[in-house]
Amino acid sequence: MAMERISILEYKRIVLGITGSIAAYKAADLASKLTQAGADVDVIMTEAATRFVAPLTFEAVTGRTVYTDMWQTAHSESLPTHVAHVGLAEGADLILIAPATAQHLAKLAHGFADDLLCITVLSAKCPIVIVPAMDAGMYENAAVAANVARLRELGIEVIEPEIGRMASGMVGRGRLPEVWALLGAARQVLGREWGALRDRHVVVTAGGTREALDPVRFITNRSSGRQGYAIAQAAVDSGAHVTLIAAPNELPTPYGVELVPVESAQEMLDAVLEYAEDADALIMAAAVADYRPEETADHKIKKAGKALQLSLVPTVDVLATVGARRAETGRPHVLVGFAAETRDLLKNARSKLEKKHVDYIVANDVSLAGAGFGTDTNIVTILSADGSAIALPQQTKSAVAEAIVQRVAARLQTVPRRTEPDSDEV
Ligand code: CTP
Repeated sequence: MAMERISILEYKRIVLGITGSIAAYKAADLASKLTQAGADVDVIMTEAATRFVAPLTFEAVTGRTVYTDMWQTAHSESLPTHVAHVGLAEGADLILIAPATAQHLAKLAHGFADDLLCITVLSAKCPIVIVPAMDAGMYENAAVAANVARLRELGIEVIEPEIGRMASGMVGRGRLPEVWALLGAARQVLGREWGALRDRHVVVTAGGTREALDPVRFITNRSSGRQGYAIAQAAVDSGAHVTLIAAPNELPTPYGVELVPVESAQEMLDAVLEYAEDADALIMAAAVADYRPEETADHKIKKAGKALQLSLVPTVDVLATVGARRAETGRPHVLVGFAAETRDLLKNARSKLEKKHVDYIVANDVSLAGAGFGTDTNIVTILSADGSAIALPQQTKSAVAEAIVQRVAARLQTVPRRTEPDSDEV
């Protein structure tokens, strides 16, 4: 199946620098995924990198010229000028160097200008992300660590390599992170550069809570967490600092997100109250249990061969609690809830919007095919406190997430960022 296009990467021109590490072969997959996501990927390979992988591999996956020689003028009409390094740097949205060798960390940290990749970096005005990869021991070397620190001082984002098995068979820190993490790093950096939510703190909740009956059993619901995770990713793509408070689920944590794992409705409440207190926005996509067992048995409940009566008591409504507090504190500035319904969708959703004092309710008929739990798509209507209701067509949960995040950003437009002087205090 073709990979979904990724809005924040679409039509971005990304210079992908590849240096002479064995991990260069993994960069072919990275170049392919970036291209599939919609980016224009211009690859620069050092001479050493071409010993590991042929430039043709990258030409094939990106459909664009690969650059290897600093002495050659640009041979691609897609660049703004024939001087290759100027053309590559001019108008680039991001330079991503993966893998970066110890040699290139040293050269880039000290402004060397003796290959095409180095001079392109020196000419660039866009954000730069460097992903080191090298065999065991080298990354921990003091000289390498000093170069990494220097690069960070220069405002360059250096991604920590992972711990694991190296090509030599040794184990240590130095492996290139997985491709999805590198895509995630690119999204985060581009989001901070372009996104409407930069310098904003957004708290998102996701998943279905678990209410324990005994040490081995719990009551839960069908929520997969996918819509909430998609919202967390969309908020990162918009440049936000994102805290994701998640009930148990199977999903990988989006890159750059601060994950707060919780289990029960009570734990969800405690975490939301802690993190949402000075957040700009709270988006409650979690399916929080409305009831919990009155008692949780200390030991496994034994079968007794007769009917078992369970007594359930209500949990606290997290969203309504935050809505009521906001009336006093003014925070979070934007509150978004969901309404999972199987009938009278808009009527029930409107009543939740009013009762819980939120700005938006995302109404979701979970009984429709292509909507609700466990699917990749969703069909929602976004109701606003101003009375409007916008019905979105069936679309991916990522697209729904972007629509929600756009509305949050629009509402925050008039709210000063923490980094800006408060207009009231002037
Ligand atoms: N919610 C919450 N705390 C609860 C229950 C729900 O914060 N204990 C939030 C959900 O995260 C969602 C919104 O309230 O954003 C609506 O949840 P939903 O399950 O649709 O509605 P309920 O208020 O639980 O009402 P009902 O189950 O009767 O439809």
